[in-house]
Amino acid sequence: MSQDPEQAKKLEALLKMLAISKGDTSKLTQPQRKQFEEYKFWKTQPVSRFDDKVDDEGPINSSQRSEDVPDEPLPLLDEFQWCTVDLTDPEQLDDVFILLNENYVEDQDATFRFNYSREFFNWSLKGPGWRKDWHVGVRTKQSGRLVAFISAVPATLRVRNKLIKSVEINFLCIHKKLRAKRLTPILIKEVTRRVNKQDIWQALYTAGVVLPSPTATCRYAHRPLNWSKLYEVGFTGLPANASKTQMIAKYTLPKETDTAGLRPMEEKDVDKVFELLNKYQSRFDLIQVFTKEEFKHVFLSSKNVVYSYVVENNGIITDFVSFYSLPFTVLNNPNYRELGIGYLFYYASDADFEYPDRFHPEGSSKLRKRLNRLISDVCIKARDLKMDVFNAMSCQDNSLFLDDLKFGPGDGFLNFYLFNYKVRPIAGGLRKDNSFDTEKRSSVGVVML
Ligand SMILES: CC(C)(COP(=O)(O)OP(=O)(O)OC[C@H]1O[C@@H](n2cnc3c(N)ncnc32)[C@H](O)[C@@H]1OP(=O)(O)O)[C@@H](O)C(=O)NCCC(=O)NCCS
Repeated sequence: MSQDPEQAKKLEALLKMLAISKGDTSKLTQPQRKQFEEYKFWKTQPVSRFDDKVDDEGPINSSQRSEDVPDEPLPLLDEFQWCTVDLTDPEQLDDVFILLNENYVEDQDATFRFNYSREFFNWSLKGPGWRKDWHVGVRTKQSGRLVAFISAVPATLRVRNKLIKSVEINFLCIHKKLRAKRLTPILIKEVTRRVNKQDIWQALYTAGVVLPSPTATCRYAHRPLNWSKLYEVGFTGLPANASKTQMIAKYTLPKETDTAGLRPMEEKDVDKVFELLNKYQSRFDLIQVFTKEEFKHVFLSSKNVVYSYVVENNGIITDFVSFYSLPFTVLNNPNYRELGIGYLFYYASDADFEYPDRFHPEGSSKLRKRLNRLISDVCIKARDLKMDVFNAMSCQDNSLFLDDLKFGPGDGFLNFYLFNYKVRPIAGGLRKDNSFDTEKRSSVGVVML
C-alpha cells in the first residue's frame, strides 16, 4: 500500500466507492444499527421492525385507497420547489447526471466520480411502463438547479410464491450542501405519494445503511481485471509478501474464452433465453418477473451499457449471462482518465435443471463447474472491453464461483428492503462470519443497479 498520504486518501475513497475490502474482513459486521424507536422517520412508515416474527407474509397496511392519496406534495422550504424531471429532454437528463456524478458518492477531494451516462439513465429509468412523474426532483427556486432526486420504476416482484405489483426505488441523491436536513424523508414521502396515486403500495429498494428492516443482506465482491493499472494509479497496494509479477500473474486471465458456443445475444434468441431465465429464476425467493418486452429492454436495448451473451450449441441455448458497465472518471491523473467497471447482472444455466432440488450435491457440482467457466469467460469479455474491475454480489448462485474465480470479498454490504410488505428473512449468500456460503447460497434473484 502506498505511503504517500494523498495516495492513501485516494485509495481509501476508491475502496469505499467500490465497497472493496482492504484486508481481512472476516470479522466485519454491518454498521451498528439504531434501535427501532430512534429511526424518527422510518418508525412512522409501514416497514418491519427488527424483531418482528413473521408468520403470514404480505402487505403491512392493505387498507389504503388511491382516491384518498393527497393530490399535492408536502411543502418544501421556501427556496425550493418540487419538479418532475423530464428525461426525454436532454437538458433535464443532463441535470440528473450532473447531480449524480457530483454527489452520488462521498469523495471530498473529487479525485474520481461515477461516470453515469445519458445512455445509462435512458436504460435504467425508461424501461417499459416508465412514468415521467416518478422521476422526482427538487430544484432551487432562484437558479433552477436540481439539488435532489429520487426515482421509481415499475416492477413486478415475486416474493416466495406471491406476485406483487411494485416499484423499484433508486438513485436517491441529495446535493452535498443539503445533507442532514431531513430532506430524504420528504423525498421518500413524495415518491410514495406519486406511486400510491397509481394504486401501487409496495416497493423494493436497497441501501448500504441499515434501516428497519433488511429482507436480505448481500455482500460485494470484486475481481481485478487489470491489476497493474489499478496499482499504477495508486488505487491498489502491493501486499507485503508479494511481488508485482506475482500479483499480475495471480489475476491474469486466459487470452481467449473457453466456453464453446459463447456469443452475443441477439433479438432472435429472445424467446429461448426468456424461457431459460424464467426457469432459472424460479429457484429464488425474491425476484423481478420480467415481461418479454421488459426483458428485451433490459438485455438488448443499450449496447454500450449492458452486455448479454448466450451459449448455443446445436441450436440449443444452455446458458445466458449479462453484465453492465458503470465506469469511474479519474480526475487529476496524468495517465488515466477512466476506470472501467463491470457489474455482473442476470444469468441462467440449465446445468442443474435435471435435479428438482436446487441443493442436490450432484446438481450443485455441475452448476458450479458450468458457472466457473461462464463467469471466467465474462471476466475475459469485460477485460477485452477495457474494464479494470469486475464486481458481483453474494446474491443468486454467485457463492458457487466467487472464491474460485478470485473475487475478493468487499467491505460493503447491500441490504434489500421491501416497503409495506412483511417477509421472513431471505438468504443473502453469506455465512455467519460473512464469508460466501457455497452450500446454502442466496435466495435473492433480483439484481438492483
Ligand atoms: C442517502 C442520502 C440521500 C441521505 O441524506 P441525508 O441528508 O444524510 O439524510 P436526511 O437528513 O435527509 O434524512 C435522514 C433520514 O433518512 C434516512 N436515510 C438515510 N439514508 C437513506 C437511504 N439510503 N435510504 C432510505 N433512507 C435513508 C435516515 O435513516 C434518516 O431517517 P431516520 O430518522 O428514520 O433514521 C444522502 O446521503 C446522499 O445523497 N448520499 C449519496 C447518494 C446515496 O448514497 N444514495 C443512497 C443510495 S441507497
